[in-house]
Parts: sequence; C-alpha cells; structure tokens
Amino acid sequence: MSVPKRTPTAILISGTGSNMTALIEAAQKPDYPADIQLVISNLQEAAGLRKADEMGVTAICIDHRDFKTRTDFEAELDAALRAHNIEFVACAGFMRVLGAAFVNKWSGKLINIHPSLLPKYKGLHTHKRAIEAKDVEHGCTVHWVNEGVDEGKIIAQSALIVTPKDTPETLAKRVQTLEHTLYPVALASALTHY
Ligand code: GRF
Repeated sequence: MSVPKRTPTAILISGTGSNMTALIEAAQKPDYPADIQLVISNLQEAAGLRKADEMGVTAICIDHRDFKTRTDFEAELDAALRAHNIEFVACAGFMRVLGAAFVNKWSGKLINIHPSLLPKYKGLHTHKRAIEAKDVEHGCTVHWVNEGVDEGKIIAQSALIVTPKDTPETLAKRVQTLEHTLYPVALASALTHY
C-alpha cells in the first residue's frame, strides 16, 4: 500500500487558536493529507502559541511591530516558512492583511477561514452585520487567499439558521463550532487540488 503524501503545512494565527487546534487534531490521523509542522503568530501573547507547543508543534512568534514596513514583516514570515520547508499555509484567525508580494509567492498554497458566508460580509464584525441585516442564514467560509481581502475563490462553506434570540456573541460561538468541522475538511480538499 502506498503511503499518502502529507504536505508540510504551517498555520498562521493571532489569538486563541481554536481552529488551529482543530487542524492539528485532524492532522494527527496518519492518512490526513497535511502534516502540520509549524505555527506562527504575529503576537507573542496569542494563547494558540502555547497550545501548539503543548500539542507538539513548533510554535514561533514573528511580531509585526518589530518591522518598519509590512513588506519587511512579510519577508521574515516567508523566510521562516521556507526555512522550515513549508509547502502550504492555512491562516486561522491571523489578523494581518497579507500584501501582494507575499500572496503572489504563496499563490495557490495559501488559504483562510472567514466567519461569514462570503461574498457577504468581508472584513470585520460579520456576526453583528448579519443580525442587523436580519439574515436568516449565516456561517463560515474557507477560501483561497488572493490580493483582495476575503475575496479569493471559495473552497467550502458551512451554514446555520439565525434565530431571533441570536446575538453577535451567540452567533460567534455557533459559527466557530461550524468552523472547527469545516476547516479540517476544507484543508484536506484544498490539498488535493493545489
Ligand atoms: C475565527 O472565527 C475565524 O473565522 C476568524 O478568526 C477567528 C479565529 O478564532 N478569522 P480562533 O483563534 O481559531 O479560535
């Protein structure tokens, strides 16, 4: 039986890392197509950094505030990914917009999860905006990253029904639960197509 190729993959985070945790857990299965080898946070205080370390994944901080320009920060990010022989990158709550030079270098190897049913609600405050618009459906999207913010081609989506009792906080929780199932499936799917 042939051994399935497991692509060396990194996850970029800025915070809690609950999606990162879901991806690392999925990749613990030997037949999962990603081998999560590196987690990078732009913030040292990101709880996800500690979590990744506990889960046995190399976790480093590259603080964007240590660089004069976004280009310099992204050059360091790119160098770290290459130094670790990473071939594919999944953003999971990474709160920096990635510039054209970085995105073009990683084109077709860079994905992101966003808490809305894109193309609706690109950017921030997606749950509040869905409630204000009286949407009956809301959810999350995994998409390829291109030069536009939250504009790349959609890989997979997961939806839920918004109830009259929902607040931005309850919706955020409910959507995150969907994200934890969607992202591992979408990453596996992306890896079979890249
Ligand atoms: C997720 O809701 C994701 O959609 C958004 O940021 C949040 C990150 O949460 N981009 P976590 O750090 O994975 O817990």
